[in-house]
Amino acid sequence: MAEHLSLKLIVDQSDTFLKKFESGIGKLSSKTLANHVSLYKNLLEEANTLAKEYTQYMGRWLSSAPAEELSKNENIISNIGEWFSLYGRIASHELYFNCLRKNGSCEGKIKELIEANFGSIQNFKLDIKLKALHASGWVWTVLDHYSGKIFNIPANREDAFPFSGMSTLIAIDLAEHAYEPDFGQDKEGYIEEFFNVIDWEEIEKNLPIM
Ligand SMILES: [Fe+2]
Repeated sequence: MAEHLSLKLIVDQSDTFLKKFESGIGKLSSKTLANHVSLYKNLLEEANTLAKEYTQYMGRWLSSAPAEELSKNENIISNIGEWFSLYGRIASHELYFNCLRKNGSCEGKIKELIEANFGSIQNFKLDIKLKALHASGWVWTVLDHYSGKIFNIPANREDAFPFSGMSTLIAIDLAEHAYEPDFGQDKEGYIEEFFNVIDWEEIEKNLPIM
């Protein structure tokens, strides 16, 4: 089948994340992080099952399978929207897991960009914190390619990952599974700890070449 008509399987990074989180990260315990990685793995398996079904369906369609056989599976095409939704949640988790590390300090190009947009790193963190306290899904930090500006976007659980003309630099998971086992209802404490363990070098890798 033509390669460009298949959906690529998403590479499972859960083993890498589990190894990285073996001793926990700051106040985030290894148990909480391991449970979180298993949720990510479930999303990934669901997305890859949809991708395999889609690829097989396209193969049958291209080989002119009988119409009645194709019509039995036509919901596979409408499920592709669900695949993109899963992909957004998977990509957000990969951004989040990748940027957790102990003792990062904000330097270099990313620091200059944040200071140009927010005046200081402290202002940037305050903006994230206020939005995070009022969101139940994520706060994404995005760089808009058209204006060159950075925005922090609060989102609820089912909101879509930002794609259009933007690079997502930071994703902070605000679902209770991310923090409740270690912080209880102290969401503010969790956000403060996220700033303590954020890996700015990793975040700089998410900047586009512009
Ligand atoms: Fe999560």
